[in-house]
Amino acid sequence: MKSYKELAKSVKFSRTRNWTKLLEKDNDLEFIGAGRSAFAFRIKETTFVLKVFFPEFKRIAQEEADIYKTLPNHPYFPSLYDKGENYIVIDYVEGFTLFDCLAKGIAIKEDKINQIDEALKLARESGLNPSDIHLRNIILTYDGHIKIIDVARFKQTKKCTQWDDLKLAFNKLYKKKYFPKKIPVFIMNMIAALYKRKIIRLGS
Ligand SMILES: Nc1ncnc2c1ncn2[C@@H]1O[C@H](COP(=O)(O)OP(=O)(O)OP(=O)(O)O)[C@@H](O)[C@H]1O
Ligand SMILES: [Mg+2]
Repeated sequence: MKSYKELAKSVKFSRTRNWTKLLEKDNDLEFIGAGRSAFAFRIKETTFVLKVFFPEFKRIAQEEADIYKTLPNHPYFPSLYDKGENYIVIDYVEGFTLFDCLAKGIAIKEDKINQIDEALKLARESGLNPSDIHLRNIILTYDGHIKIIDVARFKQTKKCTQWDDLKLAFNKLYKKKYFPKKIPVFIMNMIAALYKRKIIRLGS
């Protein structure tokens, strides 16, 4: 099998200000998701994910690897297997992101919110500052467990209220009997864009 370094090297992006296009990748890689700083690929026939960072974000590869080394060895987080200049290798997590759950109408129960709280508490107890906790960074596994799959910003010093805001939305809206459990993707993207621009606020 090719080395992780070779696989990461095979990934070529073309970037504009708001858009990233995948130009090339090795056949052993299966694209599984895009973020603001990287694309994630499953290495075929393995249980590993290769996260390849865009050139201007490649320093985050080292940062995220350091965070994985600081986190406790707990099923709430994937394990780290390797790191390179612009990539990390972590466990592949099978399941639905919370964003997918809302899009597909898969119910999110209160105990899952408590599990996320517990995972973030463990990270805090390790001296980290869990940040950038949004719906695409949390996976509900097929067997009903929570995994936090993107810890890249857990060392930022700025206070992040995203998780408190999401919890508030869960308690004040989602939990209510008549609140729809399936939400169209374009509505969620619209809410996320308005939240990002601070046009809507949930918490204090
Ligand atoms: N270990 C994993 N197992 C399964 N899917 C994953 C895994 N890591 C990433 N993904 C998928 O790839 C997407 C992008 O990965 P990730 O969130 O790590 O990138 P990012 O650029 O750091 O994101 P952000 O925009 O939150 O900063 C995730 O939302 C998820 O759908
Ligand atoms: Mg992410």
